[in-house]
Order: sequence, then C-alpha cells, then structure tokens
Amino acid sequence: MNKPVLGILASGRGTNLQSIIDAVDEGKISAEIGLVITDKPAVMALQRAEKNNIPNICIDRKKYAMREDFEAKLLEKLREYEVEHIILAGFMRILSAAFIRNYKNHILNIHPALLPSFVGAHAHRDALAYGVKVSGCTVHFVDEGMDSGPIIAQAAVPVFDTDTEETLAARVLGQEHIIYPKAIELYLTGKLHIEGRKVLIKNNTSGGLS
Ligand code: GAR
Repeated sequence: MNKPVLGILASGRGTNLQSIIDAVDEGKISAEIGLVITDKPAVMALQRAEKNNIPNICIDRKKYAMREDFEAKLLEKLREYEVEHIILAGFMRILSAAFIRNYKNHILNIHPALLPSFVGAHAHRDALAYGVKVSGCTVHFVDEGMDSGPIIAQAAVPVFDTDTEETLAARVLGQEHIIYPKAIELYLTGKLHIEGRKVLIKNNTSGGLS
C-alpha cells in the first residue's frame, strides 16, 4: 500500500523537520515526506531535506507582494507533489482561512508553549515576561485562528528563575522532538478523532502519548 505523503513547511533551522525525518527513517512515522517547502532562502531546513534526498523548494515570501499569490504557489507545489497532509515545523507564517480550507483537519502544527497561553511568534519571551513556572509545547490541528485549533498533545517543562529565552527554548525543543513525531503517527494511523475542541485518542488511557 502506498504510504501517505507529507508536505513539511519550515522557516529556519529545521530541528523539528530533522526529528520527523529521523522518525520516518526509523519506521516510527508511517509516511513518506514528499516535499519540504520553506518561505525563506538558504535556511538549514532546506539543507536537511537535500541531505536526506527529499524534494525541497523555497517559495520566498518576500518575492510575493500579496499573501494570496504566495499561498497559490504553495498550493500549486503541494498538489504537484501530491501532498495529503501538511506538517508545520517552525513555519513562521500565518496561513489564511482560504488556504487552510484546502486541507481542513489535515494540517498539524507545533507551538512552543502550553496553548492557549502565549500564542504567536514570541512564546518564550512572553512566558518569561509573565513569570510562569511551567511552560512547554503543544501539537494541534490548524484551524482558521492563531494557534487555536484542537490540541493533540502537550508536554510541560519547568521554568527556572535563571532561564533566558534561549535556555527555555532549548528545554522545550527537547520535548517538541519527542511529542511531534508521536502525534503525527497517531494522526496518520487514524487514532485521532476530533470532537469539537477535543481530540480523542483511540485506546488512550494515560491522557498522554506514552
Ligand atoms: C520550534 O520551537 C517551534 O515550536 C517554533 O519554532 C521553532 C522552530 O525550530 N514554532 C513556532 O513558534 C510557530 N509559531 P526548528 O526550526 O528547529 O524546528
């Protein structure tokens, strides 16, 4: 049977992309990565894809005056490579409702905070400024709002008085690399059922991913 085809969208260094590539290689994600797209040129995510012989392209957002045109190109490429599921892995653009409708409930994102706290592009800075004692990461379906779709998985880490954005980000990132591949596999194997805001996980008794 053909494996489901993933399209991974990234903007930068691509460590989440790498953890997904590794999980696919190790048979922990039953899918093929059909295409990696970045919205910025010369980023490490492209090099990681190239090194692993995964088709990759940059659709440089700066070259498009209108978001509609950028997203039209994105869609064109995703369709050309027969991508069925979109995985956002450090993709720092907000996708329009019109774009998302093309892949409704087939787009996953990871956010570096315990949603619904600290949405947006500066999660660690905001968490530290607020003074929380615990932060973490969230895997969720992408809906038409900002970081607001139904939550699939979360992992928590402590926040220390001595933390900087960098130290907190590194601690959270370690958890991202664990929960994102697991959540993707649950999704791909049909174990997730969306009921309103809730994502029910089949045969899950622990409340987590283990
Ligand atoms: C990750 O921490 C990811 O959660 C975050 O960007 C980082 C990308 O790192 N995503 C967002 O903030 C999305 N709003 P990576 O390029 O090494 O995977």
